[in-house]
Amino acid sequence: MNRASTAVVTGATSGIGEAIARGLAAGGTTVILVGRSDQRLDQARRRILAAVPGADLRPERADLSLLADVRALAERLVARHPLPDVVISNAAVIAEVDDTTTEGIQRTLATNHLAPYLLLRLLAGPLGDRPARFVVVGASPSALARVPVDLDDLGCASGRGLGPLPSLRPFTCYGRTKNMNAMFVYGLARRLEGTRITVNGVHPGIIKGTGLGRGSRGALRLLGAALSPFQPGPDTGADTPVWLATSPEVDGITGRFFVRRTQAATAPHTTDPTRCDRLWEESARLVGLSPTMATHSAA
Ligand SMILES: NC(=O)c1ccc[n+]([C@@H]2O[C@H](COP(=O)([O-])OP(=O)(O)OC[C@H]3O[C@@H](n4cnc5c(N)ncnc54)[C@H](OP(=O)(O)O)[C@@H]3O)[C@@H](O)[C@H]2O)c1
Repeated sequence: MNRASTAVVTGATSGIGEAIARGLAAGGTTVILVGRSDQRLDQARRRILAAVPGADLRPERADLSLLADVRALAERLVARHPLPDVVISNAAVIAEVDDTTTEGIQRTLATNHLAPYLLLRLLAGPLGDRPARFVVVGASPSALARVPVDLDDLGCASGRGLGPLPSLRPFTCYGRTKNMNAMFVYGLARRLEGTRITVNGVHPGIIKGTGLGRGSRGALRLLGAALSPFQPGPDTGADTPVWLATSPEVDGITGRFFVRRTQAATAPHTTDPTRCDRLWEESARLVGLSPTMATHSAA
């Protein structure tokens, strides 16, 4: 694959997601921009058009913290022609630990893990034996090695193991969902074997000029402000995701995690098949899908 025909980018209204959308649009791809606010979608569309005149951009509003919105988004994407040949799951938040959605799910868990879990599973079936690439934006494998997913408490409700500093607990909860991203990539790739859909994870780098953590209080916010002069911007963060979505160099590569266009190992607690299966099954229960996936072999 040299150029995607139609790509879906979640969290395209800001930061790395907007840069990914701009990068794909510059290569001639039709980009479906997914965001939760019509106004921010329109602003992002205008900024991308200013940088890439004539870009083919299709805004789709969905609040990805809500399973109902994710399902409705998947239905609209499946009804469109052509089906997307690239889906980049990039949207994420760092919400307060006690922040639950109207569906009763902790917001960081719902947005960062359950949304891509549900969306990619709902798209994989209709894609059938068509070629497609799924890319899941995770985070730094080395930093995340210290925050294994608590499989008995995906939404961090017990507060167990979140650390002594209350202002950093949302970040630990976020880190666990980013480990779930890698575990989901490995579990999904295994279940998509025999199809022409690949799925890979990526750490975009530590990137300044994005909105991540803007809703957070205290130490996390200060940390972000202190580090920012030394960090690259969103275009650098978009580089590996766009490469994974379009480059012939990664044709057929699946179930891997990348940092700076290079395969990287993630912590053993993310690769353990028993742990990955437990996460898969509990996620299926939370989103209301069967743990078993029906796929179409390309053979
Ligand atoms: N920046 C870094 O240093 C860094 C490091 C490691 C990993 N990452 C990862 O990179 C990805 C992008 O992060 P970023 O730094 O670019 O942050 P960002 O600027 O805050 O972008 C996050 C995007 O997600 C969207 N989003 C959040 N909640 C949503 C919801 N409920 N429904 C729909 N969209 C929602 C946001 O939309 P709104 O515009 O409506 O808020 C925004 O467009 C994330 O997966 C993050 O974990 C970033």
